[in-house]
Amino acid sequence: MKISVLSVFPDLYKPFLETSLVKRAQENNLVTISLTDFFSCAKPKERIDAPTFGHGAGMLLKPEVVQKAIEGAEKESGQAFKVFFSPQGKKLNQDVLKSIMQKASDKKHIMLVPARYEGMDARVEDFYADELISVGDLVLMGGDIPAMMFLEGFLRLIPGVIGKQESVDHDSFNGPFVDHPEYTEPVTWKGMSVPEVVRSGNHGALQKWRFQSALEKTIFKHFDWLRSCFLTSEQKKMVLSSMPHHYVALLHSNVVLGDQDKVGTTSVTSLDIHDIARSSKTYGIQNFFVVTPLKDQQKIVGTLLGFWQTGYGAEYNKHRHEALKHVHLVSELDEVVEKIYELEGVKPVIIATSARDIKHQEMLTFFDHEIAWKHKRPVLFVFGTGKGLSDEFLAQCDYLLKPVQGFTDFNHLSVRSAVAIILDRWLGNNLKS
Ligand SMILES: C[S@@+](CC[C@H](N)C(=O)[O-])C[C@H]1O[C@@H](n2cnc3c(N)ncnc32)[C@H](O)[C@@H]1O
Repeated sequence: MKISVLSVFPDLYKPFLETSLVKRAQENNLVTISLTDFFSCAKPKERIDAPTFGHGAGMLLKPEVVQKAIEGAEKESGQAFKVFFSPQGKKLNQDVLKSIMQKASDKKHIMLVPARYEGMDARVEDFYADELISVGDLVLMGGDIPAMMFLEGFLRLIPGVIGKQESVDHDSFNGPFVDHPEYTEPVTWKGMSVPEVVRSGNHGALQKWRFQSALEKTIFKHFDWLRSCFLTSEQKKMVLSSMPHHYVALLHSNVVLGDQDKVGTTSVTSLDIHDIARSSKTYGIQNFFVVTPLKDQQKIVGTLLGFWQTGYGAEYNKHRHEALKHVHLVSELDEVVEKIYELEGVKPVIIATSARDIKHQEMLTFFDHEIAWKHKRPVLFVFGTGKGLSDEFLAQCDYLLKPVQGFTDFNHLSVRSAVAIILDRWLGNNLKS
Protein backbone atom coordinates (compact mmCIF):
# COMPACT_ATOMS: atom_id res chain seq x y z
CA MET A 1 0.00 0.00 0.00
CA LYS A 2 1.31 3.45 -0.94
CA ILE A 3 0.48 6.36 1.32
CA SER A 4 1.04 9.97 0.23
CA VAL A 5 0.76 12.83 2.68
CA LEU A 6 0.52 16.40 1.37
CA SER A 7 1.26 19.01 4.00
CA VAL A 8 2.27 22.57 4.73
CA PHE A 9 4.55 21.19 7.47
CA PRO A 10 6.00 17.85 6.29
CA ASP A 11 8.75 18.07 8.93
CA LEU A 12 6.10 17.37 11.58
CA TYR A 13 5.83 13.81 10.20
CA LYS A 14 9.52 12.93 10.19
CA PRO A 15 9.92 11.79 13.83
CA PHE A 16 6.48 10.19 13.66
CA LEU A 17 7.38 8.12 10.60
CA GLU A 18 10.70 7.12 12.11
CA THR A 19 9.28 5.71 15.33
CA SER A 20 8.15 2.29 16.50
CA LEU A 21 5.59 0.27 14.52
CA VAL A 22 5.09 2.98 11.89
CA LYS A 23 8.81 2.80 11.13
CA ARG A 24 8.78 -1.00 11.15
CA ALA A 25 5.80 -1.15 8.76
CA GLN A 26 7.90 0.77 6.22
CA GLU A 27 11.05 -1.24 6.88
CA ASN A 28 9.07 -4.45 6.31
CA ASN A 29 7.75 -3.02 3.02
CA LEU A 30 4.16 -3.29 4.20
CA VAL A 31 3.67 0.38 3.27
CA THR A 32 5.56 3.12 1.47
CA ILE A 33 4.91 6.57 2.86
CA SER A 34 5.88 9.69 0.91
CA LEU A 35 5.59 13.33 1.95
CA THR A 36 4.87 16.26 -0.35
CA ASP A 37 5.56 19.79 0.82
CA PHE A 38 2.90 22.22 -0.47
CA PHE A 39 5.68 24.85 -0.70
CA SER A 40 7.38 22.72 -3.35
CA CYS A 41 4.24 23.14 -5.49
CA ALA A 42 4.50 26.93 -5.70
CA LYS A 43 7.03 29.02 -7.56
CA PRO A 44 9.99 30.29 -5.49
CA LYS A 45 8.89 33.19 -3.26
CA GLU A 46 5.24 32.66 -4.28
CA ARG A 47 2.71 32.29 -1.44
CA ILE A 48 0.82 28.99 -1.09
CA ASP A 49 -2.14 30.71 0.55
CA ALA A 50 -4.50 33.53 -0.40
CA PRO A 51 -7.16 35.59 1.45
CA THR A 52 -10.75 34.35 1.48
CA PHE A 53 -13.31 36.29 -0.55
CA GLY A 54 -15.78 38.45 1.36
CA HIS A 55 -15.50 39.71 4.93
CA GLY A 56 -13.24 37.85 7.31
CA ALA A 57 -9.52 37.74 7.79
CA GLY A 58 -8.82 34.10 6.89
CA MET A 59 -6.35 32.62 4.42
CA LEU A 60 -6.87 29.46 2.37
CA LEU A 61 -4.49 27.12 0.55
CA LYS A 62 -4.53 28.10 -3.11
CA PRO A 63 -6.44 25.54 -5.23
CA GLU A 64 -3.74 25.37 -7.89
CA VAL A 65 -1.10 24.54 -5.26
CA VAL A 66 -3.20 21.65 -3.91
CA GLN A 67 -3.92 20.54 -7.49
CA LYS A 68 -0.21 20.43 -8.34
CA ALA A 69 0.58 18.44 -5.18
CA ILE A 70 -2.18 15.91 -5.88
CA GLU A 71 -1.33 15.50 -9.54
CA GLY A 72 2.37 15.09 -8.70
CA ALA A 73 1.71 12.36 -6.10
CA GLU A 74 -0.69 10.52 -8.44
CA LYS A 75 1.78 10.66 -11.29
CA GLU A 76 4.32 9.00 -9.03
CA SER A 77 2.14 6.39 -7.29
CA GLY A 78 -1.04 6.01 -9.37
CA GLN A 79 -4.61 7.12 -8.74
CA ALA A 80 -5.29 7.53 -5.04
CA PHE A 81 -8.21 7.32 -2.65
CA LYS A 82 -8.12 10.85 -1.24
CA VAL A 83 -8.86 11.66 2.38
CA PHE A 84 -9.16 15.33 3.28
CA PHE A 85 -9.35 16.52 6.89
CA SER A 86 -11.86 19.04 8.17
CA PRO A 87 -13.75 19.61 11.42
CA GLN A 88 -16.89 19.49 9.24
CA GLY A 89 -16.10 15.99 7.93
CA LYS A 90 -17.43 12.57 8.85
CA LYS A 91 -16.49 11.64 12.41
CA LEU A 92 -13.63 9.14 12.44
CA ASN A 93 -14.24 5.81 14.16
CA GLN A 94 -13.22 2.17 13.70
CA ASP A 95 -16.00 1.48 11.17
CA VAL A 96 -15.07 4.53 9.08
CA LEU A 97 -11.42 3.44 9.15
CA LYS A 98 -12.33 -0.07 8.04
CA SER A 99 -14.52 1.18 5.22
CA ILE A 100 -11.75 3.53 3.97
CA MET A 101 -9.27 0.64 4.17
CA GLN A 102 -11.57 -1.41 1.94
CA LYS A 103 -11.98 1.37 -0.63
CA ALA A 104 -8.29 2.34 -0.60
CA SER A 105 -7.16 -1.28 -0.96
CA ASP A 106 -8.64 -1.39 -4.48
CA LYS A 107 -6.44 1.54 -5.53
CA LYS A 108 -3.41 0.48 -3.45
CA HIS A 109 -2.71 4.18 -2.94
CA ILE A 110 -4.20 6.43 -0.28
CA MET A 111 -3.57 10.16 -0.11
CA LEU A 112 -3.98 12.21 3.06
CA VAL A 113 -4.58 15.92 2.58
CA PRO A 114 -4.50 17.92 5.82
CA ALA A 115 -5.08 21.66 5.56
CA ARG A 116 -3.93 24.67 7.59
CA TYR A 117 -5.07 28.30 7.93
CA GLU A 118 -8.87 28.51 7.38
CA GLY A 119 -8.75 25.23 5.46
CA MET A 120 -9.38 24.48 1.79
CA ASP A 121 -11.21 26.37 -0.92
CA ALA A 122 -14.60 24.58 -0.90
CA ARG A 123 -14.26 23.66 -4.59
CA VAL A 124 -11.07 21.71 -3.93
CA GLU A 125 -12.77 19.47 -1.37
CA ASP A 126 -15.81 19.05 -3.63
CA PHE A 127 -13.64 18.09 -6.58
CA TYR A 128 -11.02 15.85 -5.02
CA ALA A 129 -12.09 14.47 -1.63
CA ASP A 130 -13.30 10.85 -1.66
CA GLU A 131 -13.75 11.20 2.07
CA LEU A 132 -13.76 14.28 4.33
CA ILE A 133 -12.74 13.26 7.84
CA SER A 134 -13.07 14.97 11.21
CA VAL A 135 -11.41 13.69 14.37
CA GLY A 136 -14.06 15.30 16.59
CA ASP A 137 -16.22 18.34 17.13
CA LEU A 138 -13.35 20.70 17.86
CA VAL A 139 -11.18 22.95 15.73
CA LEU A 140 -7.44 22.36 15.58
CA MET A 141 -4.88 24.62 13.96
CA GLY A 142 -4.23 22.13 11.20
CA GLY A 143 -5.02 18.69 9.85
CA ASP A 144 -1.59 17.15 10.48
CA ILE A 145 -2.32 15.67 13.89
CA PRO A 146 -5.64 14.28 12.52
CA ALA A 147 -3.68 12.79 9.58
CA MET A 148 -1.19 11.14 11.97
CA MET A 149 -4.06 9.90 14.11
CA PHE A 150 -5.69 8.46 11.00
CA LEU A 151 -2.40 6.79 10.03
CA GLU A 152 -2.03 5.15 13.46
CA GLY A 153 -5.48 3.59 13.17
CA PHE A 154 -5.17 2.77 9.48
CA LEU A 155 -1.79 1.03 9.77
CA ARG A 156 -3.11 -1.21 12.58
CA LEU A 157 -5.54 -2.64 10.03
CA ILE A 158 -2.81 -3.71 7.59
CA PRO A 159 -1.99 -7.39 8.24
CA GLY A 160 1.54 -7.77 9.63
CA VAL A 161 1.87 -4.24 11.05
CA ILE A 162 0.80 -5.36 14.53
CA GLY A 163 2.64 -8.51 15.59
CA LYS A 164 -0.42 -10.29 16.94
CA GLN A 165 -3.48 -10.13 14.69
CA GLU A 166 -5.43 -11.36 17.75
CA SER A 167 -4.87 -7.98 19.47
CA VAL A 168 -6.42 -6.19 16.51
CA ASP A 169 -9.39 -8.57 16.42
CA HIS A 170 -10.07 -7.94 20.12
CA ASP A 171 -9.69 -4.17 19.86
CA SER A 172 -12.41 -1.97 21.32
CA PHE A 173 -15.01 -0.86 18.76
CA ASN A 174 -14.18 -3.79 16.47
CA GLY A 175 -17.55 -5.22 17.49
CA PRO A 176 -20.28 -4.06 19.87
CA PHE A 177 -18.11 -4.39 23.00
CA VAL A 178 -14.95 -2.62 24.15
CA ASP A 179 -11.86 -4.58 25.15
CA HIS A 180 -11.66 -6.20 28.60
CA PRO A 181 -9.33 -4.80 31.31
CA GLU A 182 -5.71 -6.02 31.33
CA TYR A 183 -3.19 -6.21 34.20
CA THR A 184 0.52 -6.80 34.65
CA GLU A 185 3.05 -7.06 37.52
CA PRO A 186 3.09 -6.07 40.35
CA VAL A 187 0.13 -7.99 41.74
CA THR A 188 -0.61 -5.17 44.19
CA TRP A 189 -0.04 -1.56 43.26
CA LYS A 190 -1.18 1.45 45.30
CA GLY A 191 -3.29 -0.89 47.40
CA MET A 192 -5.15 -2.27 44.37
CA SER A 193 -4.77 -5.94 43.50
CA VAL A 194 -5.11 -7.76 40.20
CA PRO A 195 -8.40 -9.72 40.36
CA GLU A 196 -7.85 -13.29 41.57
CA VAL A 197 -9.50 -14.84 38.50
CA VAL A 198 -6.96 -13.14 36.19
CA ARG A 199 -4.10 -14.96 37.95
CA SER A 200 -5.96 -18.20 38.65
CA GLY A 201 -4.88 -20.05 35.51
CA ASN A 202 -8.50 -21.15 35.06
CA HIS A 203 -8.95 -20.37 31.38
CA GLY A 204 -12.71 -20.89 31.32
CA ALA A 205 -13.32 -18.66 34.34
CA LEU A 206 -10.98 -16.01 32.93
CA GLN A 207 -12.80 -15.93 29.58
CA LYS A 208 -16.12 -15.55 31.37
CA TRP A 209 -14.79 -12.75 33.59
CA ARG A 210 -13.24 -10.96 30.62
CA PHE A 211 -16.46 -11.07 28.66
CA GLN A 212 -18.58 -9.87 31.59
CA SER A 213 -16.12 -7.01 32.36
CA ALA A 214 -16.08 -5.91 28.73
CA LEU A 215 -19.89 -6.11 28.59
CA GLU A 216 -20.37 -3.99 31.72
CA LYS A 217 -17.75 -1.44 30.71
CA THR A 218 -19.48 -1.03 27.35
CA ILE A 219 -22.91 -0.64 28.91
CA PHE A 220 -21.89 1.82 31.60
CA LYS A 221 -19.29 3.85 29.70
CA HIS A 222 -20.03 3.46 25.99
CA PHE A 223 -23.76 2.95 25.75
CA ASP A 224 -24.08 5.18 22.69
CA TRP A 225 -21.60 2.99 20.84
CA LEU A 226 -23.29 -0.22 21.97
CA ARG A 227 -26.73 0.94 20.92
CA SER A 228 -25.45 1.91 17.47
CA CYS A 229 -24.26 -1.67 16.78
CA PHE A 230 -26.09 -4.68 15.42
CA LEU A 231 -26.63 -7.17 18.26
CA THR A 232 -27.74 -10.78 18.01
CA SER A 233 -30.70 -11.77 20.13
CA GLU A 234 -28.30 -13.54 22.50
CA GLN A 235 -26.20 -10.36 22.84
CA LYS A 236 -29.34 -8.27 23.44
CA LYS A 237 -30.32 -10.59 26.28
CA MET A 238 -26.84 -10.29 27.82
CA VAL A 239 -26.96 -6.49 27.60
CA LEU A 240 -30.40 -6.35 29.19
CA SER A 241 -29.39 -8.65 32.03
CA SER A 242 -26.26 -6.61 32.85
CA MET A 243 -27.74 -3.11 32.71
CA PRO A 244 -29.75 -1.59 35.58
CA HIS A 245 -33.37 -2.75 35.46
CA HIS A 246 -35.85 -0.11 34.32
CA TYR A 247 -39.44 0.42 35.46
CA VAL A 248 -42.20 2.77 34.32
CA ALA A 249 -44.97 4.38 36.40
CA LEU A 250 -47.91 6.37 35.03
CA LEU A 251 -49.32 8.72 37.66
CA HIS A 252 -53.00 9.76 37.81
CA SER A 253 -52.48 11.74 41.03
CA ASN A 254 -50.09 14.60 41.87
CA VAL A 255 -50.81 15.97 38.41
CA VAL A 256 -51.77 19.46 37.22
CA LEU A 257 -55.39 19.88 36.10
CA GLY A 258 -57.42 22.27 33.95
CA ASP A 259 -56.85 25.96 33.39
CA GLN A 260 -56.30 26.99 36.99
CA ASP A 261 -53.30 24.69 37.30
CA LYS A 262 -54.79 22.97 40.34
CA VAL A 263 -53.17 19.71 41.46
CA GLY A 264 -55.39 16.61 41.65
CA THR A 265 -56.28 13.28 40.07
CA THR A 266 -57.19 12.25 36.50
CA SER A 267 -59.12 9.40 34.91
CA VAL A 268 -57.40 6.41 33.41
CA THR A 269 -57.24 6.04 29.61
CA SER A 270 -57.30 2.44 28.37
CA LEU A 271 -55.27 3.34 25.27
CA ASP A 272 -52.46 4.62 27.54
CA ILE A 273 -52.36 1.29 29.35
CA HIS A 274 -52.26 -0.72 26.12
CA ASP A 275 -49.69 1.43 24.36
CA ILE A 276 -47.36 2.02 27.31
CA ALA A 277 -47.44 -1.71 28.09
CA ARG A 278 -46.44 -2.46 24.50
CA SER A 279 -43.64 0.16 24.51
CA SER A 280 -42.43 -1.11 27.87
CA LYS A 281 -42.22 -4.68 26.60
CA THR A 282 -40.36 -3.52 23.47
CA TYR A 283 -37.66 -1.71 25.46
CA GLY A 284 -37.17 -4.33 28.17
CA ILE A 285 -38.97 -2.53 31.02
CA GLN A 286 -39.42 -4.91 33.96
CA ASN A 287 -42.84 -3.68 35.07
CA PHE A 288 -45.23 -0.89 34.18
CA PHE A 289 -47.24 0.49 37.13
CA VAL A 290 -50.55 2.24 36.63
CA VAL A 291 -50.96 4.48 39.68
CA THR A 292 -54.43 5.71 40.66
CA PRO A 293 -55.88 6.23 44.15
CA LEU A 294 -59.48 6.35 42.79
CA LYS A 295 -61.50 3.21 43.55
CA ASP A 296 -63.80 3.48 40.51
CA GLN A 297 -60.77 3.95 38.22
CA GLN A 298 -59.03 1.00 39.85
CA LYS A 299 -62.10 -1.08 39.07
CA ILE A 300 -61.90 -0.15 35.38
CA VAL A 301 -58.16 -0.92 35.22
CA GLY A 302 -58.73 -4.18 37.14
CA THR A 303 -61.30 -5.32 34.55
CA LEU A 304 -58.99 -4.44 31.65
CA LEU A 305 -55.96 -6.17 33.18
CA GLY A 306 -58.05 -9.20 34.17
CA PHE A 307 -59.22 -9.61 30.56
CA TRP A 308 -55.67 -9.50 29.14
CA GLN A 309 -53.75 -11.17 31.94
CA THR A 310 -55.96 -14.11 32.85
CA GLY A 311 -59.18 -13.78 30.84
CA TYR A 312 -60.19 -14.41 27.25
CA GLY A 313 -57.65 -11.82 25.94
CA ALA A 314 -54.72 -13.96 27.10
CA GLU A 315 -55.66 -16.61 24.51
CA TYR A 316 -57.18 -14.29 21.93
CA ASN A 317 -53.99 -12.19 21.40
CA LYS A 318 -50.83 -13.68 22.89
CA HIS A 319 -48.58 -10.69 22.08
CA ARG A 320 -50.95 -8.29 23.80
CA HIS A 321 -51.08 -10.68 26.75
CA GLU A 322 -47.28 -10.73 26.89
CA ALA A 323 -47.18 -6.92 27.03
CA LEU A 324 -49.99 -6.52 29.58
CA LYS A 325 -48.70 -9.32 31.81
CA HIS A 326 -46.16 -6.86 33.26
CA VAL A 327 -48.68 -4.17 34.17
CA HIS A 328 -49.50 -3.64 37.85
CA LEU A 329 -52.21 -1.53 39.40
CA VAL A 330 -51.27 0.41 42.54
CA SER A 331 -52.75 3.31 44.55
CA GLU A 332 -49.69 5.50 45.02
CA LEU A 333 -46.06 5.88 44.03
CA ASP A 334 -44.74 4.70 47.40
CA GLU A 335 -46.26 1.31 46.61
CA VAL A 336 -44.28 1.24 43.35
CA VAL A 337 -41.06 1.97 45.22
CA GLU A 338 -41.89 -0.73 47.78
CA LYS A 339 -42.60 -3.31 45.08
CA ILE A 340 -39.33 -2.54 43.30
CA TYR A 341 -37.53 -2.80 46.64
CA GLU A 342 -39.07 -6.24 47.19
CA LEU A 343 -37.91 -7.37 43.75
CA GLU A 344 -34.44 -5.83 43.69
CA GLY A 345 -33.46 -5.43 47.34
CA VAL A 346 -32.74 -1.75 46.71
CA LYS A 347 -34.88 1.31 46.04
CA PRO A 348 -34.95 2.75 42.50
CA VAL A 349 -33.44 5.99 41.26
CA ILE A 350 -36.51 8.06 40.30
CA ILE A 351 -36.38 9.98 37.04
CA ALA A 352 -39.37 12.25 36.52
CA THR A 353 -40.45 13.46 33.11
CA SER A 354 -42.18 16.67 32.09
CA ALA A 355 -43.14 18.50 28.91
CA ARG A 356 -42.27 21.78 30.62
CA ASP A 357 -38.65 22.95 30.70
CA ILE A 358 -38.57 23.40 34.48
CA LYS A 359 -35.49 23.97 36.61
CA HIS A 360 -34.49 21.05 38.84
CA GLN A 361 -31.33 20.60 40.86
CA GLU A 362 -30.56 17.38 38.95
CA MET A 363 -31.42 17.65 35.27
CA LEU A 364 -30.68 14.75 32.92
CA THR A 365 -30.34 14.83 29.16
CA PHE A 366 -30.83 11.81 26.92
CA PHE A 367 -27.04 11.34 26.92
CA ASP A 368 -26.71 11.05 30.70
CA HIS A 369 -27.06 7.30 31.23
CA GLU A 370 -23.76 7.25 33.06
CA ILE A 371 -25.11 9.67 35.70
CA ALA A 372 -28.35 7.76 36.24
CA TRP A 373 -26.64 4.37 36.21
CA LYS A 374 -23.67 5.20 38.40
CA HIS A 375 -25.80 4.41 41.48
CA LYS A 376 -26.03 0.75 40.38
CA ARG A 377 -29.71 0.84 41.32
CA PRO A 378 -32.83 0.16 39.25
CA VAL A 379 -34.29 3.15 37.40
CA LEU A 380 -37.93 4.22 37.65
CA PHE A 381 -39.27 6.60 34.99
CA VAL A 382 -42.35 8.47 36.19
CA PHE A 383 -44.81 9.94 33.69
CA GLY A 384 -47.73 12.22 34.48
CA THR A 385 -51.22 12.48 33.04
CA GLY A 386 -53.41 15.62 32.80
CA LYS A 387 -51.15 18.65 32.34
CA GLY A 388 -48.18 16.81 33.79
CA LEU A 389 -46.59 16.03 37.15
CA SER A 390 -46.90 18.80 39.76
CA ASP A 391 -43.88 20.97 40.62
CA GLU A 392 -44.03 19.73 44.18
CA PHE A 393 -43.82 16.12 43.02
CA LEU A 394 -41.02 16.85 40.54
CA ALA A 395 -38.93 18.50 43.26
CA GLN A 396 -38.95 15.24 45.26
CA CYS A 397 -37.60 13.07 42.42
CA ASP A 398 -33.90 12.24 42.08
CA TYR A 399 -33.67 13.55 38.54
CA LEU A 400 -35.75 15.38 35.97
CA LEU A 401 -35.35 14.41 32.32
CA LYS A 402 -35.21 17.17 29.70
CA PRO A 403 -38.47 17.45 27.74
CA VAL A 404 -38.87 15.78 24.37
CA GLN A 405 -38.88 18.52 21.74
CA GLY A 406 -39.13 18.95 18.00
CA PHE A 407 -38.11 21.99 15.94
CA THR A 408 -41.51 23.60 16.56
CA ASP A 409 -43.19 25.31 19.51
CA PHE A 410 -46.04 22.78 19.57
CA ASN A 411 -45.69 20.96 22.88
CA HIS A 412 -48.71 18.67 23.31
CA LEU A 413 -47.65 15.03 22.94
CA SER A 414 -49.90 12.37 24.42
CA VAL A 415 -48.27 10.66 27.38
CA ARG A 416 -48.22 7.33 25.52
CA SER A 417 -46.29 8.94 22.66
CA ALA A 418 -43.90 10.62 25.11
CA VAL A 419 -43.25 7.28 26.82
CA ALA A 420 -42.46 5.62 23.49
CA ILE A 421 -40.09 8.42 22.46
CA ILE A 422 -38.35 8.59 25.83
CA LEU A 423 -37.87 4.83 26.08
CA ASP A 424 -36.48 4.76 22.57
CA ARG A 425 -34.11 7.65 23.21
CA TRP A 426 -32.95 6.13 26.49
CA LEU A 427 -32.89 2.41 25.72
CA GLY A 428 -33.32 2.01 21.96
CA ASN A 429 -30.94 -0.04 19.80
CA ASN A 430 -30.37 2.61 17.13
CA LEU A 431 -28.27 1.02 14.39
CA LYS A 432 -25.72 3.11 12.50
CA SER A 433 -25.00 0.49 9.85
C1 LIG B 1 -8.29 26.12 11.68
S1 LIG B 1 -8.91 24.74 10.85
C2 LIG B 1 -10.20 25.50 9.87
C3 LIG B 1 -11.52 25.44 10.55
C4 LIG B 1 -12.66 26.02 9.75
N1 LIG B 1 -12.64 27.46 9.77
C5 LIG B 1 -13.99 25.56 10.37
O1 LIG B 1 -14.44 26.15 11.35
O2 LIG B 1 -14.57 24.55 9.88
C6 LIG B 1 -7.68 24.39 9.65
C7 LIG B 1 -7.57 22.93 9.22
O3 LIG B 1 -7.23 22.12 10.33
C8 LIG B 1 -7.75 20.80 10.15
N2 LIG B 1 -8.66 20.49 11.28
C9 LIG B 1 -8.99 21.31 12.29
N3 LIG B 1 -9.81 20.70 13.15
C10 LIG B 1 -10.02 19.45 12.69
C11 LIG B 1 -10.80 18.34 13.11
N4 LIG B 1 -11.56 18.38 14.22
N5 LIG B 1 -10.76 17.21 12.38
C12 LIG B 1 -10.03 17.14 11.24
N6 LIG B 1 -9.29 18.16 10.78
C13 LIG B 1 -9.27 19.30 11.49
C14 LIG B 1 -8.49 20.82 8.82
O4 LIG B 1 -7.63 20.32 7.83
C15 LIG B 1 -8.80 22.30 8.65
O5 LIG B 1 -9.02 22.63 7.30
